[in-house]
Amino acid sequence: MQSKFANIYFYPTANVSENSEIGVGSKIWQNVQVREGAIIGKNCNISKDVYIDFNVSIGNNCKIQNGVSIFHGVTIEDDVFVGPNAVFTNDKVPRSFNLEWSVVPTLVKHGSSIGANATIVCGITIGEYAMVGAGSVVTKDVKPYTLVLGNPAKFYSYIDKMGNKIEYDPLDK
Ligand SMILES: CC(C)(COP(=O)(O)OP(=O)(O)OC[C@H]1O[C@@H](n2cnc3c(N)ncnc32)[C@H](O)[C@@H]1OP(=O)(O)O)[C@@H](O)C(=O)NCCC(=O)NCCS
Repeated sequence: MQSKFANIYFYPTANVSENSEIGVGSKIWQNVQVREGAIIGKNCNISKDVYIDFNVSIGNNCKIQNGVSIFHGVTIEDDVFVGPNAVFTNDKVPRSFNLEWSVVPTLVKHGSSIGANATIVCGITIGEYAMVGAGSVVTKDVKPYTLVLGNPAKFYSYIDKMGNKIEYDPLDK
């Protein structure tokens, strides 16, 4: 791989644009595609078959599991976990023949986790240390330190930083 990517592990079948940026200590596994303008932080693990679209931004220490699709308009902060085959969308009302569609951004705040096979409908913010249950369809903002579940995803519980359920909002003073 190119010298600008020293101290990064790439599996030989990874397809990484020279115009992306990847932080030291990150690992990029089989068949991952990283598009132009994408930024991946330090010490990230980008697992097999992940697609990272152009200009996507991913912070430090993130784990992105097999088969995840992260489209243009998505920003992922530090310490985020994304379970296998989760999808982030970027077009709220897709039509193949609409050439004037616009990207709807999504923000995933630090420390949050997205369960396997979750679908994140664009235009929302997932708060810090929030958790999205496996298979959920998230259509609205997720408050920090909360667990949401189901389709559509709904509040289930407050949680602490480790994801344990708690009975109070830790942000309440
Ligand atoms: C959401 C999650 C964290 C909850 O775990 P938990 O705190 O142990 O919760 P419980 O198993 O006690 O379940 C609580 C309730 O929510 C339901 N539930 C649990 N996970 C659910 C999910 N993903 N979607 C919908 N309902 C779910 C349970 O059936 C249970 O319902 P009940 O109260 O009617 O019996 C967990 O189920 C989950 O989805 N984890 C993500 C796993 C994952 O994707 N890992 C990725 C790496 S492999």
